[in-house]
Amino acid sequence: MGLLNEGINEIIATTHQNAAPMGIIKRNGKIRMVLYHGSHTAERVVSGGWVVANFIFDPVLYVTTAFDDLPAEVFIDEKAGEFTVERLSSCEAWAAYKAKVERSTRQSLLISLLPVREEIGNLALHPVNRGFNSIIDATVHGTRYKVTRDKGLLDLIEYHAGIIKKCGGPRESEALALLFDYIDYP
Ligand SMILES: Cc1cc2nc3c(=O)[nH]c(=O)nc-3n(C[C@H](O)[C@H](O)[C@H](O)COP(=O)(O)O)c2cc1C
Repeated sequence: MGLLNEGINEIIATTHQNAAPMGIIKRNGKIRMVLYHGSHTAERVVSGGWVVANFIFDPVLYVTTAFDDLPAEVFIDEKAGEFTVERLSSCEAWAAYKAKVERSTRQSLLISLLPVREEIGNLALHPVNRGFNSIIDATVHGTRYKVTRDKGLLDLIEYHAGIIKKCGGPRESEALALLFDYIDYP
């Protein structure tokens, strides 16, 4: 099983009836996540003991799942070892992991992941697009900006907005407009 690349994989993580963009870190044969306390994902990984990495390339879905909930019908049940897990209906591929808390600090949980099942569905080609990549970056900054209102983060979001406008397609433009809405862009 090996859908993940070495480094940090920015996937959309599903837990029970929840989806959010998260980084899965693969280094030196180990697979881990760092989950900040307070997210639904952190709470549900601990209570359910599993997480699914959804491989998806829709910029709108990254923004939506970072700030909002998805309707129940987009979650599809799958068997993965001892678990019934949930993946997103529109993913191109998915990987289910057994999840265990390795360490807990005041700020975050270090979660170790054990691959249980991987499936590849309808793969498409995704030519590298700086606009898409900048949606990912701007959304990371946006989730922090929404909490901190830090002007430095706003500058970074504006920098990425420039790249999205120059290099993105209509779906990236739609995602950027949505991001601006969610963060109440001044
Ligand atoms: C690309 C991307 C990667 C992210 N990676 C993480 C991560 O590794 N750990 C984390 O705690 N939050 C991460 N976040 C922030 C969460 O997605 C965000 O806090 C979200 O609101 C959590 O949603 P939830 O409450 O439904 O779990 C990331 C956000 C983005 C856009």
